[in-house]
Amino acid sequence: MINPLDLYAKIESLIGFDVQYEKLYEVYLQLLHSLHVKTILDVGCGNGKFLKHLQNAEFRACGIDRSVVMVERACTLGVDASTKELDAFEEASFECVVAIADVLNYIPVAELESFFEAVARVLPKNGYFICDVNTLYGFEGVAEGVMCQDKENQFLCVEATFEHKELLTKIVLFEKEGELYRKVEGSITQYFHSLAFFKKLKAFKLCSTKPIALFGDEPDKTILIFQKR
Ligand SMILES: C[S@@+](CC[C@H](N)C(=O)[O-])C[C@H]1O[C@@H](n2cnc3c(N)ncnc32)[C@H](O)[C@@H]1O
Repeated sequence: MINPLDLYAKIESLIGFDVQYEKLYEVYLQLLHSLHVKTILDVGCGNGKFLKHLQNAEFRACGIDRSVVMVERACTLGVDASTKELDAFEEASFECVVAIADVLNYIPVAELESFFEAVARVLPKNGYFICDVNTLYGFEGVAEGVMCQDKENQFLCVEATFEHKELLTKIVLFEKEGELYRKVEGSITQYFHSLAFFKKLKAFKLCSTKPIALFGDEPDKTILIFQKR
């Protein structure tokens, strides 16, 4: 059975969010410049494109991701990416941590508080954590539904349903191998997180929120800017 995060990595280029994600990266880069931070950890760095932007803008940055496929892809861009966990880093070793493009929605509600504590450990007092989460509209109005894509040697079918604050995305991918197709299938669950949860965190103060509309006129994500207490 394939790791669901590696399965997402396999279908990423077929889904094609590049234009929207570049718009999101612009917003993050502006925020990072305005906060005057230099050392950054990108949690859930994925294919490394944002790390490349950071490198080009002369930030000192590295990234971690739980998908080996993603990390290998990121390393081809010449950025510092690995499958390390947050606890592999020294205490207070970054001025800022980012988690971009709904990384937090991959974390179940029950594990979110300990994730925030692990992020807090690698930051100094008043260090920043910037992330974004999908809004309800992002799940119900954008992500939910059926999508099929046919590209070169791959055929993809995705069905996403949002129920009880969870998005279940079922994925079937056919990849051509010689004359035959190999079928890979799996599912990914993403969790809606309410703003009320983020306001009650022990380790962080929620300083500001920024709604952002990447896929339409209505905000599908909210950017959250935290400072460590
Ligand atoms: C939608 S992708 C976004 C990737 C990247 N930030 C970008 O902008 O393209 C979400 C990423 O989060 C990673 N991920 C999910 N949960 C994670 C966790 N707990 N720790 C590290 N990476 C995680 C996935 O493997 C995936 O690469």
